[in-house]
Amino acid sequence: MLQATEEKASGRRALLVSAIYGVWGLVAAALGAPAAVYLLFPPRTKKVEEWIEAGRADSLRLRVPEELVFRRNRVDGWKVTSDKTSAWVVKMAPGHVVAFAPQCTHLGCAYHWDEQKQQFLCPCHTSTFSLDGSVTSGPAPRALDRFESRIADGKILIGAVRRSGHA
Ligand code: FES
Repeated sequence: MLQATEEKASGRRALLVSAIYGVWGLVAAALGAPAAVYLLFPPRTKKVEEWIEAGRADSLRLRVPEELVFRRNRVDGWKVTSDKTSAWVVKMAPGHVVAFAPQCTHLGCAYHWDEQKQQFLCPCHTSTFSLDGSVTSGPAPRALDRFESRIADGKILIGAVRRSGHA
C-alpha cells in the first residue's frame, strides 16, 4: 500500500518536472527565435547602387533645366522606405544629361531655374549657379551636387548623388 502511494507520488513528480522542462523549453525557444532570425537573415548594410528612371530624354529641351520628380528607395537594416525626391536635369548635348541635387550647397534650401537670368537662384540667401552648377554669386561654398546620370533606351536614369568639390 505504502509502495503504491510512493509510486503514484513519484509519477506525479516526474510529470511536474517534465512540465517545468517543457515550459523552460518554450521560453528558450521564444527568446532564441529572434536571435536565430538575426543570425540567419542579417540586416542589409551594403548600399546597393540603384538607377532610377526619372523621365524621357526626348522630353528635355537642349540646355533648359527641368525639375524631374522620382521616388528613391532607402534601405535601413530590414526596413525599406520610399522617398519622393527630385533633380534638376539639363540636357547638355544630345545623349548627355547632367542631374543636380535639388538642395543649395549653402544651407540646403530648394533653388529654382531663373529663365530670364539663365541661372539657378536660391531664394534663401540669393546664391546663384550657372547652367553647369558652378557658383556665380552668393554665400554657397561649392557648386551644386550632382547625381550620377545617364541615358539608356531614351530614359533618363539617375544614380547616387556625388558631393561637388569645387566652387
Ligand atoms: S541656402 Fe541657398 S544661399 Fe543660403
